[in-house]
Amino acid sequence: MKSSYLLLLAFSTIATAYQTLDPLVLPRPLILEYPPGDDQIFHSDVGKEEVQLRCASWRFAGEANNLAPWKTVPADCGAYVKDYMTGKAYRFDLEMVADEAAAYARSVSLAGDCMDAWVFDVDETLLSNLPYYADHGYGLEVFSSHEFDKWVDKAMAPAIQSSLKLYEEILRLGFKIFLLTGRTEGQKIVTMENLKKVGFRDWKQLILRGVNDHGRTATMYKSEKRSEIVANGYRILGNSGDQWSDLLGSSMGNRSFKLPNPMYYIP
Ligand SMILES: *[C@@H]1O[C@H](CO)[C@@H](O)[C@H](O)[C@H]1NC(C)=O
Repeated sequence: MKSSYLLLLAFSTIATAYQTLDPLVLPRPLILEYPPGDDQIFHSDVGKEEVQLRCASWRFAGEANNLAPWKTVPADCGAYVKDYMTGKAYRFDLEMVADEAAAYARSVSLAGDCMDAWVFDVDETLLSNLPYYADHGYGLEVFSSHEFDKWVDKAMAPAIQSSLKLYEEILRLGFKIFLLTGRTEGQKIVTMENLKKVGFRDWKQLILRGVNDHGRTATMYKSEKRSEIVANGYRILGNSGDQWSDLLGSSMGNRSFKLPNPMYYIP
């Protein structure tokens, strides 16, 4: 009784805090600010279960694009996101998306003119940057492009295995594959090297951000590049990405497949 009352009190304190916040000011508090001096809730099993559930709700809201924009994983969910990313759950979620994408790819009949296309994002879609994020709090830290670029230059990102399997099947079915990444032209060589090293091959085109694309949202940049693909006569039947900005906008294609990513959000 006592602890559930205190929990309620804790959440209503947060609700008040929320109202005073500009919704775009980030990061947002999630379950923070338990009543001072009372660590009974936090250390009880009820408290832990509540945190797990709150963080699962947060992750779900993120995947459904209801949180957008968000800047970092809420501090309370650091351990939760780490467990998700390093345990089986992330892998199972990835496998389900890949299996559904493959089922869809097999279900459509291609025109046979080599103009049916599939678009893949790169980071957290084909390549995993988990080794980098393991050193940067699995999304708890604010993203640093400087630090991240140093990692990209190493060309050491492993393949997401379920995506590699899907990629092979998409190729086998006769799709032309377009890789559309937020990485810059300057990272082209290392990106190609990294992709090839872990088994990706035979893409039609690797599209990276040019100088004119800097400072534009990923949604704008990627929409424009997809429109160019379509203007060249291709039909985008499928599109796979871990960010909504990979999938929303114009020339979206017939089907989109959203891979899980609770670590970061790109507008
Ligand atoms: C893809 O969408 C277009 C436009 O809605 C439609 O004409 C076409 O039949 C679709 N292709 C497939 C393979 O579903």
